[in-house]
Amino acid sequence: MTGITAVETKRLILRELDEDDFEDIHEFKSDPQVVKYLTWGPNSREQTLQSLRKQIAFQNEENRKLHVLAVEIKGTKKVIGNALFMVRDQDFKTVEIGYFINSNYWKQGYGIEIVKGLLDFGFNTMDVHRIYAVCDAENTGSIKLLSKIGFRQEGHFIKNLKIKGQWRDHYLFAMLSKEFINKPENEG
Ligand SMILES: CC(C)(COP(=O)(O)OP(=O)(O)OC[C@H]1O[C@@H](n2cnc3c(N)ncnc32)[C@H](O)[C@@H]1OP(=O)(O)O)[C@@H](O)C(=O)NCCC(=O)NCCS
Repeated sequence: MTGITAVETKRLILRELDEDDFEDIHEFKSDPQVVKYLTWGPNSREQTLQSLRKQIAFQNEENRKLHVLAVEIKGTKKVIGNALFMVRDQDFKTVEIGYFINSNYWKQGYGIEIVKGLLDFGFNTMDVHRIYAVCDAENTGSIKLLSKIGFRQEGHFIKNLKIKGQWRDHYLFAMLSKEFINKPENEG
């Protein structure tokens, strides 16, 4: 499993990050609504810049595991979010995904489009066996999104991560390659 170049969906391109994306990325990484259920944030400009530079440096790593991608709207080229594709076990072809979107663009189907793009890329292009996501037990938007796409809820971690100073429960959602309905051999 090596590098990603770009994943294209109907309205979006999930592509490698660039330092020019800074302003668009800071817009959502500094928004308390967006980071409510995340371990980091809201970010200062300096924090966003440091993390962006670190994530860009991953692009040149040999045997790369962490892919943080810019989610760009085709046409306007506005970067409205980040999509994460994290290789957790290379031998067993297991990948964790993550995603967050500028709150001005919520509830317009972009979340579903991003995750379907990541699944298509993982299962059809990278030959991944299992893709999972972990989300806060009160993150209704993310739970609904994952359930709607067909992820199976497999786990409930009690007081799993400290978010904004509070130990919080998390759900584990997963999908196997053979369960992915957009896989050519799974159709029909
Ligand atoms: C979670 C998140 C990515 C959802 O993105 P989105 O673009 O709004 O999702 P979609 O528009 O594709 O919606 C998917 C489904 O979830 C529903 N949904 C989305 N947000 C919701 C919310 N806050 N409450 C209830 N339902 C919600 C949508 O209505 C839709 O269902 P429907 O088709 O039956 O109407 C977005 O809210 C976000 O970036 N949140 C902050 C970061 C985050 O929590 N990331 C996930 C970490 S695990």
